[in-house]
This record gives sequence, C-alpha cells and structure tokens, in this order.
Amino acid sequence: MMLILNYRMLLLQLTLFVALCLSSSQPEPFAMRISCGALVNVQTAQTNTLWYKDFGYTGGRSENASITSFIVPPLTTLRYFPLSDGPENCYNIHIPNGHYSVRIFFALVQDPNFQNEPLFDVSVEGTQIYSLPSGWSTEEEGSFVEALAFISDGSVSICFHSTGHGDPSILSIEILQVDDKAYYFGPLWDQGLILRTVKRLSCGGQRPEYDEDYSGNHWGGDRFWSPVDTFGQYSDQVLATENSINLTSVPPNYYPAKIYQTALVSTDSQADLFYSIDVDPTRNYSIWLHFAEIDPGITGEGQRVFDILINGDIAFKDVDIIQLSGGNNTALVLNKTIAVNGKTLTVTMHPTEGNHPIINAIEVFEVILVESMTFAQEVMSLQALKNALGLPLRLGWNGDPCVPQQHPWSGIDCHFDGSSSKWVIDGLSLDTQGLKGFLPDNISLLHLQSINLSGNSIHGAIPSSFGTITGLQILDLSNNFFNGSIPESLGNLTSLQILNLNSNMLSGRVPAALGGRLLHRVSFNFSTNAGLCGIPGLPTCGPHLSIGAVIGIAVAVFVAFLLIVLGLIIWWKRRQNILRAQRIAARDAPYAKARTHYVRDVQMTRHHHHHHHQHGSDHPRTATEHGSNLLS
Ligand SMILES: *[C@@H]1O[C@H](CO)[C@@H](O)[C@H](O)[C@H]1NC(C)=O
Ligand SMILES: *[C@@H]1O[C@H](CO)[C@@H](O)[C@H](O)[C@H]1NC(C)=O
Ligand SMILES: *[C@@H]1O[C@H](CO)[C@@H](O)[C@H](O)[C@H]1NC(C)=O
Ligand SMILES: *[C@@H]1O[C@H](CO)[C@@H](O)[C@H](O)[C@H]1NC(C)=O
Ligand SMILES: *[C@@H]1O[C@H](CO)[C@@H](O)[C@H](O)[C@H]1NC(C)=O
Ligand SMILES: *[C@@H]1O[C@H](CO)[C@@H](O)[C@H](O)[C@H]1NC(C)=O
Ligand SMILES: *[C@@H]1O[C@H](CO)[C@@H](O)[C@H](O)[C@H]1NC(C)=O
Ligand SMILES: *[C@@H]1O[C@H](CO)[C@@H](O)[C@H](O)[C@H]1NC(C)=O
Ligand SMILES: *[C@@H]1O[C@H](CO)[C@@H](O)[C@H](O)[C@H]1NC(C)=O
Ligand SMILES: *[C@@H]1O[C@H](CO)[C@@H](O)[C@H](O)[C@H]1NC(C)=O
Repeated sequence: MMLILNYRMLLLQLTLFVALCLSSSQPEPFAMRISCGALVNVQTAQTNTLWYKDFGYTGGRSENASITSFIVPPLTTLRYFPLSDGPENCYNIHIPNGHYSVRIFFALVQDPNFQNEPLFDVSVEGTQIYSLPSGWSTEEEGSFVEALAFISDGSVSICFHSTGHGDPSILSIEILQVDDKAYYFGPLWDQGLILRTVKRLSCGGQRPEYDEDYSGNHWGGDRFWSPVDTFGQYSDQVLATENSINLTSVPPNYYPAKIYQTALVSTDSQADLFYSIDVDPTRNYSIWLHFAEIDPGITGEGQRVFDILINGDIAFKDVDIIQLSGGNNTALVLNKTIAVNGKTLTVTMHPTEGNHPIINAIEVFEVILVESMTFAQEVMSLQALKNALGLPLRLGWNGDPCVPQQHPWSGIDCHFDGSSSKWVIDGLSLDTQGLKGFLPDNISLLHLQSINLSGNSIHGAIPSSFGTITGLQILDLSNNFFNGSIPESLGNLTSLQILNLNSNMLSGRVPAALGGRLLHRVSFNFSTNAGLCGIPGLPTCGPHLSIGAVIGIAVAVFVAFLLIVLGLIIWWKRRQNILRAQRIAARDAPYAKARTHYVRDVQMTRHHHHHHHQHGSDHPRTATEHGSNLLS
C-alpha cells in the first residue's frame, strides 16, 4: 500500500517536474477563450483554437447570434442579459494573477423580435472601460472592446451594465496573458491603470481585419491590426518589403514582423504625413508609433528626419529611424502619453531634413484610472444578505456594489472612505421589495447610517449585530414579521434618530438603555406588535422571572394546594366529630350543647377569612394556622 502510494507520488512529482521544465523552456501565456451561450466546447477551423463552452456568468440566456461576419473565427451563439435578470450582469472567471489583455465581442440576437441594437456599458474589475456607441453593430471595429488590466485577486470580473437601451448581448470573452511590462509607458503606469485599445493600425497592411496572428508569439496577446492603405491624403502611398525585420517579437510587447514590412510614406517631400481620429475629450491617451526603414533607397543616417507632433505639440524631435533603431529593416517603437482636451487626436510627421516621412503602424490606447473597489468584508456581507433575503433577480447585485460609480447596485448608498481608499456602504434601502427571508446575524456593514427594510415579509429575529453599527441613525424595520425581543445591543446605538419597529411580531421588554435613549431625541414607533412593554406608552412588563424562580413558585403553589386539601379534610373530619359530639350532647346535657355552638362559630369565621385570601403568598401560612388551630 505504502509502496503504491509512494510510486504514485513519484509519478505525480515527475509529471509536475516535466511540466515545469516544458513551461520554463517554452513558456506559453495563459489563455482563456469563452464562446458565450455555447453548450459545448467549440474548436474553430484553421487554427484549431479552443473556445470553452459558456461558464462563469451570473445570469442571462443563451441564444443564436445573427452577426458573425466581422469575426474570425465565426461563433454562432451568444449570451444576452434581459433587464428582468438585473441591470448588472457579469462573468467571473478564476485566473492566475497577472497582466492580461481582455477582449469582448458583441453581437445581435438572431430573432426578429430583437431588432434594436443594444447599448450598454462594460466594466473590468469594477472600472468602466467602454460605453457602446450607437451604430456599433454596423461597424466592423464596433463589435469588440479590448483592454489591458492587472489581475491581483485571483479572478477577473467582467460586467455588463444596462443603460435602458436593450439587453446586453455578448458573443465571446478572451482573457489572454501578456508580459508583466507590456505597454509600459512610464512611472504612472503601474499606479492602477487600464489601457483600452482605441485603434491598432497596420499602415499599408493587407491582411483581413480581425485575423489573429496565431502563428506569432502569443505573449503579444494575439492582437488585431486593422489594415489602412491611406490616411486620406493626396500624397500618401503604400510601401512594402519582403525583407525580414530585425528586433521584432521581443519583450515586452512582442510585435509581429509583419506590421513593419509595410508602411505609408508621403510622396511630397514638403508635405506632412498625418493621421487623425475622433476621441472622447478630456481623457488621457497613450500613443505608440512603429517605424522601420524599409525603403531600399535610404541607406544611412540623416537621409530621412522628421518631427512628430501630437495635437500640435512636438512629441519627438528630429526622428531619424536608422539612427535610433540601429540600422535599416529594424523596428523602432516610440510611445507618448498625453491629455486630450478636444475631440480629435492627430499625429503629424513633419519633415525636417532629407526625405519625406514614413510610418508603419500606430496604436492608440485610452488610459483609464482604475476605480477603488468596495471594502471586501462589506461585499461579503451584502452577498450574505442577498442570499438570506432571497433578493429578486431584477435587483441584480452582481459585480462590485459601488463601482463603476456610474452603476452602483440598487438599494445601497456608497461612501468613499479616504483613509482606507475603499468604498463602504452607508445606506441600505430595500423597502417594499417583496423580500421574504431573514437577516443573517453576522452582517458586518459597520459604516451604515440608514437601514430601511420596511414593508417586506422578513421574518426571524432582529440581529443583535445591528448594535455594533455605531453610526446608525435610521433603522426602519416596520411592516415585517420580525419576532422575538428587541436585542439589548440596540441600546448601544447612540446616534439613532429614527427607530420604526411597528407592525411586526416583536415581544418582551424594550431594552432599558434603548428606552432611556428613546425618551430623549429619537423618533420611534413600536405599535402593533405581539407584546412589547417597558417604556411609557407601552404596557408595563410583568415581573422578570428566571426559570428557577418559576419552578420555585410552582412548587410553593403545589405545596400550598396540598396543605389546603389536607386542612379541608381535617376540618371536615373534625366537623363530623363535633356534629357527632353535638348529637351525643343533645341527648345528654344542654350545657355541653352551648359550648359546642361557640366552637362552631369560630370555625365558620376562620373559613370565611381563608376565602378572602385564596391567592397570594400568605396562603400556606393561613392554612398552617388553620390546621394548628384545628389541631389544638
Ligand atoms: C439556433 O440555431 C439552431 C440551428 O442552427 C437551431 O437548431 C436552434 O433551435 C436555434 N436556437 C434558438 C434558441 O433559436
Ligand atoms: C515608452 O516610453 C517611455 C519614455 O517616455 C520609456 O521609458 C518606456 O520604456 C517606453 N516603453 C516601451 C515599452 O518601450
Ligand atoms: C539586429 O540587431 C542586433 C542588435 O541591435 C544587431 O547586433 C544585428 O546585427 C542586427 N541584425 C541585422 C541583420 O541587422
Ligand atoms: C491624465 O493624467 C494626469 C497625470 O498625467 C492626471 O492628473 C489626470 O487626472 C488624468 N486625466 C484623466 C481623465 O485620467
Ligand atoms: C539594409 O539591410 C539589409 C539586411 O536587412 C542589409 O543586407 C543591407 O546591407 C542594408 N543596406 C544598407 C544600405 O545598410
Ligand atoms: C456569516 O455566517 C455564515 C454561516 O454561519 C457564513 O457562511 C458567512 O460567510 C458569514 N458571513 C460573513 C459576512 O461573515
Ligand atoms: C422606509 O420606507 C418606507 C416605504 O417606502 C417609507 O414609507 C418610510 O418613510 C421609510 N422610512 C424612513 C425612516 O425613511
Ligand atoms: C420566530 O419565528 C421563527 C419562524 O419564523 C421561529 O422559528 C422562532 O422560534 C420564532 N422566535 C420566537 C422568539 O418566537
Ligand atoms: C455595548 O457596548 C459596550 C462597549 O462597547 C459593550 O461592552 C457592551 O457589551 C455592548 N452591549 C451590548 C448589549 O452589546
Ligand atoms: C405607528 O405605527 C402604526 C402602525 O403601523 C401606525 O398606525 C401609526 O400611524 C404610526 N405612528 C406614527 C407616529 O407614525
């Protein structure tokens, strides 16, 4: 037995060792591709790429997709999220921590009833990265969004937020690991940023759109390069080469050689070469420019020198590709991050010396500041509350409660806590939501100031943990089925201003500390309950008895009862004796008769007295007196 176990362990270790060796000698990035709505794994043609069947979603329905023509490979199913499933829905996928390119394709449901193009927002790890613009479904580049993000909590949360314009419908999700330093652009880079791809152009490129470079190095994130054969100027033209390009496919970005083998050049040596795109104003953009001197006519330094301006400002002065890259047919990458105020972003190559400018590829990213997320303990508490209260689907409660700030969960109020740089929950308003569950006792929402759960069917006890929410000002639990007593701990709520517990099934004494507080400055309503007592306006409470006291009293009452019965029997017996004696005396002597009458009157009086004291603690004593009197 031991031997077999050891042998198995050895085999396992050996397998792990081999796997490690393989992975270190030939590292492959982590890649997860999901075909949304698919019931089985999909293996697409040509590249044999594996798309996992749908998993990790919080709701929604599977449907056939109507538009697949923009995407290679074509996937036929999608997942859409009707509003009745909640305004926030997510895919939560466990992945190793790292740096990832996340790409999401959208599609339309293949159903004549779904004619409108849905418009919705997309977030990654609680940060909104994209709002689908109207017309996206008729534009090739509109059908996906892609962003680079760091994952540090073992799973990625990708959420879709309804904006009231149709049901979000998702075709595919790709989570592709990239180099930890990919697209490093400077000191600010690792301070929580997401880079959303705005544009990725291959100047003069010929390849069809959305054809992943599966044969290239996958650490590049299998990017799409859109081909463009003119910037729309009269003087630009395509230049191409078959020569191999030096310094491509190197870390951290692993650019494919193909993008350097074509270029756009200006045919007019006096004219600028420029590229313009529309962008969202007042955002920061990171621009990556790719060059390689592929013109065989240019053989050395100083033969093609130009300035690069971004929105009119000089970003790079006197760029000489051969000088900077170290030779001809050698890749050169320049990057610059700028703030854009207007609605356009223009990159201008302005000739300063020798030949006219050239450019091989352009990438533009929107730099998005990552949102701080909600304090993890409070998220867990809200999840516990969601389960215990059986929250209806329509409320959603998926993803992060407070972010993206544009889409907080309904029924909660958020507050940014500057000291911890986390969001916390300061209000809970789930009144009249048809909730039927109970409140878990360990909810830890310590920043709450207001709770309104009025008008539901919540049953069970009021959790004593409410007493630890020291800043609580409003607690409205009215019109539910709460039972049991009000927890003593509520007396610790020194900030309380409104306390509505009316129309429940509460009973017992209102805690003294709470009662004292109420009389001062709290507005409260305790009416219509099963039996609350102990403060003015409510009935006074009966004696507060321990179980021991109750047993003691029961025993005493029982003993008293026995003594009464015993007393009555003795009295009756004695009466019989007296009557007998009377009969004898009446027969024998009148003197004796008179004396017996006197004794009988005394007995009648005693009996009367006993009747008036049937209840009370002096009962046994009366019986004893009675008995001793009789026995004397
Ligand atoms: C999706 O299309 C397949 C045929 O391609 C069909 O059998 C199936 O019923 C469709 N599903 C839905 C939900 O319409
Ligand atoms: C981007 O440019 C900055 C200087 O602005 C440079 O430090 C950084 O290394 C560049 N990034 C890459 C990946 O080349
Ligand atoms: C490629 O670049 C390296 C390093 O810059 C250089 O040593 C090598 O000679 C270059 N090769 C060619 C063919 O230019
Ligand atoms: C743009 O970057 C600057 C720092 O370079 C920062 O202060 C500013 O908040 C950023 N703007 C946006 C919209 O992210
Ligand atoms: C240009 O590069 C090629 C190799 O890529 C080399 O054979 C050729 O000599 C270079 N030409 C000049 C003028 O440097
Ligand atoms: C509360 O307790 C339940 C079980 O007793 C547990 O599953 C849950 O995680 C706890 N919630 C919190 C927020 O501690
Ligand atoms: C709680 O909600 C109910 C029902 O919506 C409302 O009538 C009541 O005024 C709210 N309580 C407080 C204290 O605001
Ligand atoms: C409160 O109601 C629940 C059922 O909802 C019951 O199990 C529990 O015993 C009740 N508690 C008290 C103190 O009456
Ligand atoms: C009220 O707070 C005090 C001090 O924080 C604590 O010792 C006490 O146990 C609390 N009372 C209840 C009933 O929770
Ligand atoms: C207190 O609650 C009762 C029963 O729910 C209601 O009829 C009454 O109007 C409430 N009183 C106040 C002052 O709100």
